[in-house]
This record gives sequence, structure tokens and C-alpha cells, in this order.
Amino acid sequence: MAYPTVRLRRLRKTAGIRSLVRETVLTVDDFIMPIFVTHGEGIKNPIGSMPGVYHFSLDKLDEEADAIVELGLKSVIVFGVPSEKDEVGSSGYDSNGIVQQAIRRLKARHPELVVIADTCLCQFTDHGHCGMVHVHEVNGQSVGEVDNDASLALLAKTAVAQAEAGADIIAPSNMMDGFVTAIRQGLDEAGYTDVPIMSYSVKYASAFYGPFRDAVHSTPQFGDRKTYQMDPANAREALREAEADVAEGADMLMVKPALAYMDIIRTLKEQYDLPVVAYNVSGEYSMVKAAAMQGWIDERAVVSEMLLGMKRAGADLIITYFAKDMASWLK
Ligand code: PBG
Repeated sequence: MAYPTVRLRRLRKTAGIRSLVRETVLTVDDFIMPIFVTHGEGIKNPIGSMPGVYHFSLDKLDEEADAIVELGLKSVIVFGVPSEKDEVGSSGYDSNGIVQQAIRRLKARHPELVVIADTCLCQFTDHGHCGMVHVHEVNGQSVGEVDNDASLALLAKTAVAQAEAGADIIAPSNMMDGFVTAIRQGLDEAGYTDVPIMSYSVKYASAFYGPFRDAVHSTPQFGDRKTYQMDPANAREALREAEADVAEGADMLMVKPALAYMDIIRTLKEQYDLPVVAYNVSGEYSMVKAAAMQGWIDERAVVSEMLLGMKRAGADLIITYFAKDMASWLK
């Protein structure tokens, strides 16, 4: 008699049994909420390409932080939209820069909230690159190149200014070589030996950052980021990036974006004993939102499935614009 000897459906029979054998569970502790801060007053401006995400001025940030804490979220990552940009991104390391002000404000209002600072120059440079640009002449034409080593000092300065403002974690996203060492040294020399570095270790040159660049006006004015962000085709190189960061003293490793890079999340999880962070980036958010707004997909089900997939792949933490939604769905 033809008879299935393996009956996997036994453990799927009821909701009760399914929950007993469930391997991966999302909790509110898994999520980090990104926030965009800007100068001015009374501002809560929607970001066109990211429905449901806003720019906040500092006064409006209070309400947003209250809502985040009320939902049970433990952590936010801060991005700044400065009013002034220059060649070297000086508003990034100004002790009174928009990010520093936001960190102070958040920590004063919610001391227990874990405030993460994104450490990069692209939001603060007029050319939109993540480091300092060196311009030189090639055949009578001026060519701009991102100067790795000159950028390191500025990035370290930015991290120190963020720690000074009260950032609990420094998250460098610039993809210069040696940035973890430079920032670790800078922090240590300034006395912030206990501030961890969440390194954007494996950051791909991705089209999924489009809506974010709209949000912070950081689209490079010339060229692209392919000389420092990674080629999406490469996986073994991701291991070398992670290895370098571990050797340089990173405390956590990030993979970014997440959806198209689940294999990388899994590999880092298996290879290293550091917490692995997945960044569910702006484009991943916007495409789900757009389809949901058309009524083409069930937003809550799709978001849960996506984030579950990242956690199942090995993410210990997920930075996601859906953090507030997920927190309220989990309540
Ligand atoms: C800064 C930075 C970027 C993102 C986070 N930090 C943009 C970029 O590299 O162009 C993208 C986040 C997102 O798309 O949600 N370097």
C-alpha cells in the first residue's frame, strides 16, 4: 500500500501545535527604528518616496520618541538633514550639528532609549559622497575621487562628536578602508572606550537606497558609490570586509540591504560570534508600501514574513522603517 512514512503535516495540524514547534519568533526587541531629523520648528514633513516616514524638527521629535518608547521599541538610529552642506561635511562633526542636537534631546527625554548614530559624511557633504573628495586633473579634465585616508580623520571626529552628544552606539556606514580602527582610536582617545561600534561591514552599492537619498538629499553629485560600496555580485568579498572589521574591533556586524542579501546574513552569522544586524533599507520599505497602497498585497503579512526571513537567516537585530508598525502589530 502506498503510504507516506513521513507525515510532516502532523505538526501543522493546529495553531497550538504550530506555535509549539515554531523555530523563529519576532519580538519588539528585534527592531531598530530609523529617524530623520531636520532644523526648524513644528516640522513633521512626509518623505514622498517613503509613505509613513517623516522628517522631524527637534520639537516634533519629542512626540515621535514618546510614541516609539510607548510601543516598547528599545532603539533608534538617527539620520540628519542639515541646513548647511560643505566640501568636508563639517556639519556632521559640529558639536551643535543637527544629529548631535537630536541625540542630546532624545537622551534627555528618554535616557533608557538606545540611541544609535549613523556615522557617515554623505548627508553633510555638498557633493554627496561618504568621504572627502580629492579633485585632480586628468587630461585637462577635473576628476573627483574619494580620498580614503583623509576621510578617516573626519569620520573619527564625527563619531567622537556623536559620542559626546550621548550616542550609545556608533554605526559607521561610510565604507572607507580602515574606518573601524580610525573610529575606535578616536573614541578611545576621547575617553569613550565603552561606546560600541556597530559596523556597516557589508554594505553593497545598491539601488535600494534610492528613497533614502531622496530623504536626506545625498545623491552623489558626480559618479557613484561603487568605488567604496560593494559589488552586489560578491559574497566572498563580504567575508573579507567582515574579517577586517572584526580584526579592527567592531562590536557588531551589519549587512545592508537585507532582502537581496540573505545569504550574506547567514554566512556572517555562521562565521562570526558577533551580533549580526540586517538593514531593511528604504527601497525595500517603499516597494512593499507601494504594493500595499495599491491593495496588491497584505502589508502586515508581507512585512512579518520578510522580517521573519531576515531573522531566520541569522539577523539578531533588524533596522527597519516598519519597526513602529511591527511593534504595534505585535502588541
Ligand atoms: C549613509 C547611509 C545610507 C543609508 C544608510 N546610511 C545611504 C547610502 O549609502 O547611500 C541607506 C539607508 C536606506 O536606504 O534606508 N551612507
